Amino acid sequence: MNIIIRRQIFRILNWVSRHFFASRLSFSHIQAFLFNNSFKKFFNFLHVHWSMHQGHSIVTCHPYLFVLEVTNVCNLKCPFCLTGKGISGNREVRHMKFEEAKKILDEVGPYLYFLQVYTWGEPLLNKDLIKIIKYAKQKNIYVMLSTNATAMTHEYNKSLLEAGIDYIMLAIDGGSENTYKQYRRGGDFNKVLANVNDLLSQCKHQATNTPFIEWQYIVFRHNEHEIKTTEKMAYEIGINKFTPLPAYVENKDWLPENPEYRTDLGNPERLFNCDRPWSHLNVRADGGVASCCYTFFKKDDFSSFVDHSFHQIWNNEKFQQSRRIIWQSRKKTPLEQSEIACYNCMKTGVRPSFIEISNENA
Ligand SMILES: C[S@@+](CC[C@H](N)C(=O)[O-])C[C@H]1O[C@@H](n2cnc3c(N)ncnc32)[C@H](O)[C@@H]1O
Ligand code: SF4
Repeated sequence: MNIIIRRQIFRILNWVSRHFFASRLSFSHIQAFLFNNSFKKFFNFLHVHWSMHQGHSIVTCHPYLFVLEVTNVCNLKCPFCLTGKGISGNREVRHMKFEEAKKILDEVGPYLYFLQVYTWGEPLLNKDLIKIIKYAKQKNIYVMLSTNATAMTHEYNKSLLEAGIDYIMLAIDGGSENTYKQYRRGGDFNKVLANVNDLLSQCKHQATNTPFIEWQYIVFRHNEHEIKTTEKMAYEIGINKFTPLPAYVENKDWLPENPEYRTDLGNPERLFNCDRPWSHLNVRADGGVASCCYTFFKKDDFSSFVDHSFHQIWNNEKFQQSRRIIWQSRKKTPLEQSEIACYNCMKTGVRPSFIEISNENA
């Protein structure tokens, strides 16, 4: 498809998502809903949204979106990523084992539309990842990941495709070695491009249309001049979608000139729309259960799968508090005092973890 038409289609979809779904509904979510559905999942989905709109803090519904951090290890040193900075958040730095992921998938899998197998860390470094994806696919769950694409090999790409991955987001912030290496420190642009070309050539021989492959380009001052040429290159090599995105920066010198791609640290989301403690399950590489993907530090965990089952976790005091606080915020009534991250998030509009980063840089 012509690049200009394609760009306009994705622009319109992004606009609709931003204005009606607070940027939270993506193409992959729609695909998961259309192609990975069942009566059980659909009734649970309705139940989740009914419980949320009623403001229930104790719920009998299950999450339908699972964010599983298969590892918090990374091979790069991206300067504004907490993992890239070498911060552990006071938790063990490790790969999650297949058996650990399986235990959780066995509990919540029947209700899941969507599994995202990364949070902080490089998912492809986990040797059990392929097994985890295969297991999720057996349960009819849509699986997506974001990768820096440095650890891909021909064999690895082959097994990723055979496992049935649905969506691969390639995080490559540059169209040349010079710009790329300024943020993706430790990566090699030409090697990454060769890996991506290998993946794309293997995709051509797939019997299905999957996976959908997106090139995500985080825009900084040093790479904004290359957006157009990189987009052209991306579509020429066979990428399905190219997305330039505003970056979180901790230093104003990194902000691009183009206002379209400028985000200040902690720019509030439309937080009243937060539905995560009803619809999402977030599990960290050490089994810790987080309120959402924005928290990072161990102290913010709500519980742990190491010594609890899903049913012991899902309505515990912290989950109940988070649902009450979001409900109070939505109803514009005073928020109950709480130590949990949702309290500050609702009160200030600044996402958890970014508060710590802002303080660090104050
Ligand atoms: C922490 S990374 C983990 C996954 C993988 N290692 C990667 O880089 O794709 C999760 C997402 O955060 C994005 N990211 C990293 N630094 C960012 C920044 N400064 N602003 C916005 N997004 C960023 C990455 O591109 C990626 O899509
Ligand atoms: S590659 Fe991903 S996880 Fe690793 S430092 Fe960069 S953004 Fe963070």
